[in-house]
Amino acid sequence: MLSAKNLDVRYGQFRAVRGVSLEVKQGETIALIGANGAGKSTLLRAIAGALPIYSGELSFKHKVITHAASCDRVKQGLSLVPEGRRLFTEMTIEENLLLGKTINRAGDWDLDRVFDTFPNLVKRRHAKAGSLSGGEQQATAIGRALMSNPELLILDEVSLGLSPLVVDQVYASIEKLRDAGTTIILVEQALDRAIAFAKRAVCMLEGRIVLDKLTADTNRHEITEAYFGLQQSATQEAS
Ligand SMILES: Nc1ncnc2c1ncn2[C@@H]1O[C@H](COP(=O)(O)OP(=O)(O)OP(=O)(O)O)[C@@H](O)[C@H]1O
Ligand SMILES: [Mg+2]
Repeated sequence: MLSAKNLDVRYGQFRAVRGVSLEVKQGETIALIGANGAGKSTLLRAIAGALPIYSGELSFKHKVITHAASCDRVKQGLSLVPEGRRLFTEMTIEENLLLGKTINRAGDWDLDRVFDTFPNLVKRRHAKAGSLSGGEQQATAIGRALMSNPELLILDEVSLGLSPLVVDQVYASIEKLRDAGTTIILVEQALDRAIAFAKRAVCMLEGRIVLDKLTADTNRHEITEAYFGLQQSATQEAS
């Protein structure tokens, strides 16, 4: 469904993403993990079209989208919930959700279905997004992405700053999406949670992918080593 070949993404001279290749099949769930500054958000933002791709090729559903505008990617079914949620704080929950509908892709998601998925948003639907709790804001940001009927949903730091109970609620919702067959790439700092959720674990270190394995075939020790770069020489290609 998504195919990244040898992607480089730069901030000026700095190569934040270095020769990353990644294949994502329909219905897969991927936990993208790695230390702070590893390049996770940069990669996801480049996939969503929020940052330019310096070199390499990106395709989605067999169409090359390396330089496509982000709204065209949403039209094709690729939707990112960015780190930090990025809601319009002066607009209500409902207005924020409806923004996801401005790109009119056919599908089942509408306000009613989002409110069924996130029941605690219903009673606050007319409240300004800026007045919501962190968990409510996260649910709204996910709901807004769902309103565009994505085939690939990308979630960056889905549980950042949320209390454990709210994290459980958010995960219960995205597990429902996963079990319904939505393809999901998720960045999560809580390793155990990420591994339990996803079918594949992809670990980045200093802009590169250093581990890409089925979660069922990997163990915590292997992931920790990749995360901290303890096996760099074995897994990293020369720069
Ligand atoms: N706007 C920017 N300008 C310059 N450098 C940036 C910018 N954003 C990120 N970087 C740098 O690019 C690298 C990758 O950052 P990125 O945000 O992708 O990491 P991350 O893996 O998402 O980290 P975190 O877990 O902290 O969110 C870091 O070294 C960071 O300092
Ligand atoms: Mg990040």
